[in-house]
Formats: sequence, structure tokens, C-alpha cells
Amino acid sequence: MEVRTAELQEVNRSLQQEINDRMLAETALRRSEEQLRLITNALPVLIAYVDEHQYYRFNNKAYEDWLGKSPDNIYGSNIETVWGAECYARMQIYVKLVLRGQAVTYENEITLKNGLPCSVNVTYIPHLDEHKNVIGFFALTSDISDRFAIERMKDEFIAVVSHELRTPLTSMHSALKILATGRLGNLSRDGKQMLEIAYDNTERLLRLVNNVLDLQRIEAGEVQMEKQVCNAAALMIKATESMQPMAQQQGVILAAKPIDIDILVDSDYIVQALTNLLSNAIKFSSTDGTVWLTAERKSDTEVLFSVQDEGQGIPSDKLESIFERFQQMDSSDSRRKGGTGLGLTICRKIIEQHEGKIWAESILGKGSTFSFTLPLLLPSPE
Ligand SMILES: Nc1ncnc2c1ncn2[C@@H]1O[C@H](COP(=O)(O)OP(=O)(O)OP(=O)(O)O)[C@@H](O)[C@H]1O
Ligand SMILES: [Mg+2]
Repeated sequence: MEVRTAELQEVNRSLQQEINDRMLAETALRRSEEQLRLITNALPVLIAYVDEHQYYRFNNKAYEDWLGKSPDNIYGSNIETVWGAECYARMQIYVKLVLRGQAVTYENEITLKNGLPCSVNVTYIPHLDEHKNVIGFFALTSDISDRFAIERMKDEFIAVVSHELRTPLTSMHSALKILATGRLGNLSRDGKQMLEIAYDNTERLLRLVNNVLDLQRIEAGEVQMEKQVCNAAALMIKATESMQPMAQQQGVILAAKPIDIDILVDSDYIVQALTNLLSNAIKFSSTDGTVWLTAERKSDTEVLFSVQDEGQGIPSDKLESIFERFQQMDSSDSRRKGGTGLGLTICRKIIEQHEGKIWAESILGKGSTFSFTLPLLLPSPE
């Protein structure tokens, strides 16, 4: 009997202990949940968890502050319902990618509860189960409209300054040119040399100012490409002829294989893109190197233009970044070769305005090829 009582007391004690442990665990869990909610609610970014069927399973309070929809309201809703069809159309591709297991980051424009637009940076991170199946994703959205506003101000500032610089620079450039002819009196040899330095440098500054202004106008959508039917061969010949003096000066052979094919483009801008690429190819070639300009019909809908050189080449991790503004492979390039780092950015803008693509391929030490596609002008059905 005594043994039995002792046994029962022991069972009772361990039960009590288990109940206490569970209560403690529950309190700890509730506290950690509260803490998590407190943290996610205090952050000025949208935080959410979305399941594999694109339904919200968690939202922080920022959703209420930004969109005027409470987390309770959003819980269980489809993302398309929350953001609306138009905004969802821009998100869709990234939602698909993350549900395929790929982390993605992109920029989007959303509408806040006061009806104002807001630029945001969005990151999706996939949630995988133990078998590596995607069962949902985490979404983090932050406001980047301040950064955008600053970037816009910076661009405007650069544009205004460049614009103000252009007129005086142009007149200095012309004055120096007249002086160099000797029509206004002869200069000593040293004087002529000084004049040449001044002339070369005003030319370089003028090129920078013109490039900055060109780029700013294209980016601001102020430039309308005037597309007309042009013959690819004519554009290729024009670009090659205008670059021939530079090639000769550098001892580089410039070879073009023009093709007789009609394209619908703004000829001035395409010639500008071609000359930018040719000038780079010549600039980064060594003496006796050859630069080829070729074009071929790629498919029924596209023409592919290529500028190939046998120059120093470009490392693979730089092939994309050189298309960004002021990006040069080596900062000494600008000093040694006299460039501004805007040529390729302008080329990309021009080609994009023609619904084409531009990219670079290269083998270090062997040379580089810059290619771009343009839509082919299809013969109209008779
Ligand atoms: N054919 C090439 N071979 C090797 N490097 C190149 C070639 N083309 C471009 N690059 C690299 O890419 C950089 C950017 O080219 P981009 O044309 O934008 O500027 P830039 O030629 O330096 O100046 P700008 O064209 O504005 O006068 C160059 O400075 C160079 O480092
Ligand atoms: Mg260039």
C-alpha cells in the first residue's frame, strides 16, 4: 500500500512538472511571437509570407500604414487581389521565379493609400521544405522614392551645368581653332604646342558635355527616334568613313562588309551607335590590328550588327558593367585614352529605343566583339 502511494505521488509530481514545463514553453513561445510581431511591426518596410498558391499567410503592420489594409484583412488573400491587376502584372514574373526556387530582387512602382505613387525595392526569398520543394516565399518591400528623387535632382543638376557649359566651351573651341590656323598671326613653336593642348582639351570637354546632354535627353524621353526606312549598307559605310581618319592615325585597319538590307531606324542615331563602337574598337586596338564591321540577317525578324577588334579584350566580369554610366574597365583608361565612359551607355539607350539588344563578348588578350540586333523591316504583304 505504501509503495503504491509513493508511486502515485511520483507520477503526480512528474505530471505536475510536465504541466509546468508546457506552460513555461507556451509562455516563452507567446513572448517570442509577440516579440517577432513587435519587431516586424516596428520596421518601416513591408514584410510578408506568401504560400505556394500565392495567398498571404503573414503581413506586418506596415501594410496597413502604406495600403490602408489591415493584416487581418490581407491574411488569406491572393496577392493579385491585394495589389490589383496592373501592379500584379509587373510582379508576376518575379513571383514565378521565386516559386521556382530563385531569390529575386526588383524595383516596382506601387500606389499608396493616399493614391500617390511610390518607388519600391522588392526582395523575394523562397521557403523550402526538407525535400527542397518550394512551399512559399518571404517578401520584403522597402521605399526607395527618396533615392529616386535624389537621383533625379542629380541628373537635372548635371544637365543644367552641362547646358550652361556648352555655349562658352563651343566658342572657346572655335576661337582656339582659328588661332591655330595662323590667320591672326604666327605663333612660336612652343605657343603652337600650347594652343594644341588647349584645343585638344576643350574638344574633350565638349565631347563630355555633349554626351551627358545626349544621354540625359534620351533618358528623359525627350528624344523621339525618327524611324525611316534605311539601307543597312549606307549606314555602315557612313560610320566607317567617319572613323577612317581615327583608324589611320592609330595605324588600325578598318574593314566593313556592308549588307544590302532595309531596316526601319533613326539613321543618325544608328550611325552614332556604330561610330561609338568603332571608336572604342580602334581606341583599344594596337597598331596594325584590324577592326571589322559586319552585319547579317539573323532570322526572319532580326539583323545582327557586330564590331570586332583584336585589341586588349575585356574581363568577363566587366562585360555588363561597362554599359553603365562612367564605367570604364580601368580608371586610367579615361586619362590614357581620353574617354568619358558614356559611349556604351548611349549606344545601349539608342538600341533599346529601337527595340534591339546590345551586348559584348571578349577573350582577354585576343579581342572583343560588340553586337546589337535591330528588328528587320518586313516587306508589307501585297
Ligand atoms: N573594344 C573594346 N575593347 C576593350 N575595352 C573596351 C572596348 N570598348 C569599351 N571598352 C571598355 O569599356 C569602357 C567604356 O566604354 P565607353 O565607350 O562607354 O566609354 P569610353 O570609350 O571610355 O568613353 P567615351 O566613349 O564616352 O568617349 C572603356 O573605357 C573600356 O574600358
Ligand atoms: Mg567609347
